[in-house]
Amino acid sequence: MIDKIKGLLKETEEFRVKSAEELEHFRLKYLSKKGEISQLFGDFKNVPNEIKKEVGQEINKLKQFAQEKFDQFKESLEDADSESSSADLTRQGEPIELGSRHPISLVRNEIISIFNRLGFNVNEGPEIEDDWHVFSALNFPPEHPARDMQDTFFIEKDPDILLRTHTSSVQVRVMENQKPPIRSIFPGRVFRNEAISARAHCIFHQVEGLYVAENVSFADLKQTLMYFAKEMFGEQTQIRLRPSYFPFTEPSAEMDVSCSICGGKGCNVCKYTGWLEILGCGMVDPNVLDKCGIDSEKYTGFAFGMGIERIAMLKYQVKDLRLYFENDVRFLKQFKSAY
Ligand code: PHE
Repeated sequence: MIDKIKGLLKETEEFRVKSAEELEHFRLKYLSKKGEISQLFGDFKNVPNEIKKEVGQEINKLKQFAQEKFDQFKESLEDADSESSSADLTRQGEPIELGSRHPISLVRNEIISIFNRLGFNVNEGPEIEDDWHVFSALNFPPEHPARDMQDTFFIEKDPDILLRTHTSSVQVRVMENQKPPIRSIFPGRVFRNEAISARAHCIFHQVEGLYVAENVSFADLKQTLMYFAKEMFGEQTQIRLRPSYFPFTEPSAEMDVSCSICGGKGCNVCKYTGWLEILGCGMVDPNVLDKCGIDSEKYTGFAFGMGIERIAMLKYQVKDLRLYFENDVRFLKQFKSAY
């Protein structure tokens, strides 16, 4: 009997397992109820008393050894399994991917860079504002319908504290604190209480421009905007100014650029007009200059304001505004640029 046990011990030592079937074969042969080891235990009652102790120890040794061997086999099979499913050994090493700037930042930086070349510096103002800077100083009388044009998020009433609805509030802050000549642009985030859709959002970005000095004329405004349009959309770009109304500029205008997508021939982006509206502008109303402490007899100025999302939409042809705010990396990593 001892010999048989030793023989089995040797067999199990030499056993090799390469698959789940072979492992099961090992279990059936040695460890199952009808396996070799169980049989040894069955035969144990016939072993003469003198050697019972020795034989018992040997069977236990064999059983323990076979069980350990089984556990080892099982573990190594499982490891091999999980490696083969998750590791693709033919795959190339991953390059470290650089992030990209958000398209809104790219367009904002490009706008800043264009106006820098014309000698405009950059100023910023707060997003949480008071009534004076957003409305009153800009010539919106208390009951003026233009106030309704802007659906405002109020934070407090009497005195009114609100989220700015346009970056024109920074015009007021800069004119109150600086002396002409002022030649500056104000990029920033603005808020309007609008239902979110592909074409409207309650948060968006604007860049405001302001030039106040002696003898600033509407011709200067037009020339500045023409330079901007050609730099932004290409040398062949045409502009046109349509009369408009803003409480804080007089005269006021809206500027269209010739559609850079169809070259002015008409397409679905420009709604077959050949023109795209991109900004509002005008000569700073003398009343506004006076309210901000600037002598309107001596100085004149122009101002303009444009939506960054609007320009990004035209530049990148992304028509759903919501994409700019979702921060989906699949969207964001498509934008690479010098800015
Ligand atoms: N603040 C205006 C708007 O949000 C744009 C504008 C700015 C118009 C400066 C004229 C001058 O629509």
